[in-house]
Amino acid sequence: MELFKTYKLWDIEPVKGLGTTLWDKDGQEYTDLYGGHAVISIGHCHPHYTEMLTEQLAKLGFYSNAVQNSLQQELAHRLGKISGYDDYALFLCNSGAEANENAIKLASFHTGKSKILAFGKAFHGRTSGAVSATDNPKIRAPFNVTGNVEFVQLNDIEAVEKELSTGLYAGVIIEGIQGVAGIYEPADGFLRELRAMCDRYGAVLILDEIQSGYGRTGKFFAHQFSGIKADIVTTAKGMANGFPIGGVLISPDIKPSYGMLGTTFGGNHLACTAALAVLDVIENEHLVENAARIGEYFRREFCQCGENAESLDKAIKEYRGKGLMIGLELKDEYIGLRDRLLFEEHFFTGAAGANVIRLLPSLTIKEETAAKFVAAWRKLTE
Ligand SMILES: Cc1ncc(COP(=O)(O)O)c(C=O)c1O
Repeated sequence: MELFKTYKLWDIEPVKGLGTTLWDKDGQEYTDLYGGHAVISIGHCHPHYTEMLTEQLAKLGFYSNAVQNSLQQELAHRLGKISGYDDYALFLCNSGAEANENAIKLASFHTGKSKILAFGKAFHGRTSGAVSATDNPKIRAPFNVTGNVEFVQLNDIEAVEKELSTGLYAGVIIEGIQGVAGIYEPADGFLRELRAMCDRYGAVLILDEIQSGYGRTGKFFAHQFSGIKADIVTTAKGMANGFPIGGVLISPDIKPSYGMLGTTFGGNHLACTAALAVLDVIENEHLVENAARIGEYFRREFCQCGENAESLDKAIKEYRGKGLMIGLELKDEYIGLRDRLLFEEHFFTGAAGANVIRLLPSLTIKEETAAKFVAAWRKLTE
């Protein structure tokens, strides 16, 4: 059997990782500033993570949600505490798309309404509801094109009000920072108005923190820079450092009933152990603070390049993002730089289209690694 070819692959096969370093099958070393798409939050093969997972695997890898699982309870308690959402409830699933799928269903169950408002350029995943709320016609099958989802432009509060005032909406879904789009932030003021407007018109506010959450921006969730609280927060990616997991944090106003949501694999013993190991490392190594600190380092290096504080690196048109969720929009003459960083200097980075390089490194990244990247960038753009 052949693989179903839906991915454009680099001809590189990593076989080993440690921290922010990867090695391919020929022994070539790479520095990883991409983290397999913002997934590697505590570095590859962190010793605490591998030890906890190995121990759990030898005890019990899986049992279904028909029995007690105190690892789930511990994860809910710890996640609530670290995120400031301790009065919320946690539903565990297996991926980001699945977390959003459940969030949309909850909004609809709770309000009895069927419409969802989403934003231009949004990406919420590839399952049915999540892809319907994703602003990319190329990945929406005819089945997923539904009158239940409308899109308005990010930061356009008047357009939001025009839709919500119809009274037809179960909820609004918005990314903490738009990732796949190329790193675009909702303004703090916009989020505050959006919060107030959801309250006014009885819509559930869903914050998709799947890429921007788990400390990446220098706060646990990116929307916390605006001081608001969401009704539902979705998480995945960095949550278990590569072990598949998704989480839905649910306001106490939204009441559960038996059978309302469910999953076979969600919240299994290995996934919870991986997520608990990640929280241990985030706390013990102060990784949220490190994300803010190294983010500031990158910002200084790329945004204060000349005589004044505002002069951008010569290859960059715009620097976007917060902490370690960075979008570097390239000037036209530097398009192709990402491939050169990979094949000539051996740095993995992310991208959005041809002209945006995305940096999504592990939150454990050290300043010397960041400096090594800046030096390689300067060498290639001289
Ligand atoms: C903001 C956001 N939401 C949802 C998803 C979907 O997550 P998954 O690929 O785990 O289904 C992604 C993945 O890139 C994402 O960036």
